[in-house]
Amino acid sequence: MKNVRLLFLGDVVGPSGSEYVCTNLGKIIDEERIDFTIINSENSAKGNGIDKESSIEMLKKGADVITTGNHAFKQYSSFELYENNSRILRPANFPTELSGNGYGIFEGNGFSVLVINLLGTVNMEPLSCPFRTAEKILKNNDGKYDISVIDMHAEATSEKYAIASYFDGKVGAVIGTHTHVQTADEHILPKGTAFITDAGMCGPKESALGVKPECIIKKLMNHTPVKFELSDNPCEIHGVIVEFDMTKKLPVSIERYKL
Ligand SMILES: [Fe+2]
Repeated sequence: MKNVRLLFLGDVVGPSGSEYVCTNLGKIIDEERIDFTIINSENSAKGNGIDKESSIEMLKKGADVITTGNHAFKQYSSFELYENNSRILRPANFPTELSGNGYGIFEGNGFSVLVINLLGTVNMEPLSCPFRTAEKILKNNDGKYDISVIDMHAEATSEKYAIASYFDGKVGAVIGTHTHVQTADEHILPKGTAFITDAGMCGPKESALGVKPECIIKKLMNHTPVKFELSDNPCEIHGVIVEFDMTKKLPVSIERYKL
């Protein structure tokens, strides 16, 4: 079987980021010969959280799976969105009683992908241990999929690397999200797992994580609550492409992507 090329796009921010992704996704999939696409869409709504309409639109435009993070339940509509769309995930280490799934096995064209969405616990919500959560999922689904990917949505770079190192050789790729800044450390770990600390952001350029810099400056200088406004600047798309050798079911390369 031919190699599988997997595209992962970093956090989509706001209506403009969502629109830019929807407009360009088909072209990226064609030009980069992509077989499977995962997009972290947890900031696609105005004011954080996942936006229902644009996330469903991303699936229609070619995304296979949508992941989220710490803002997964910020929008009331997200509860129903996870309930009715098995291809839209919320982190697996949220309480199990909450709606939706934290992982799934998804069919590509002749192959299957286990996607696990995790949330870090360093400087974030005190959720269940992401290490043990993923370990249990991998054990319960052993032999049921061809390749596996973890979206590790976390603040601390150390925690993202720790997850990647712990699962080195046990999952195909660990892709970090949340900080909205693409890191330059993409590589294959010693036992074969592809890793990057952060895939970056799909959202406005010259912004503070997508927000107008003046809002953040005011907040940092005055230490008072400030209404965040999304930047009007043109958008960029950031992500990575991981290529898998399907005879070995292991990654052979991980490259940063930017548009
Ligand atoms: Fe986040």
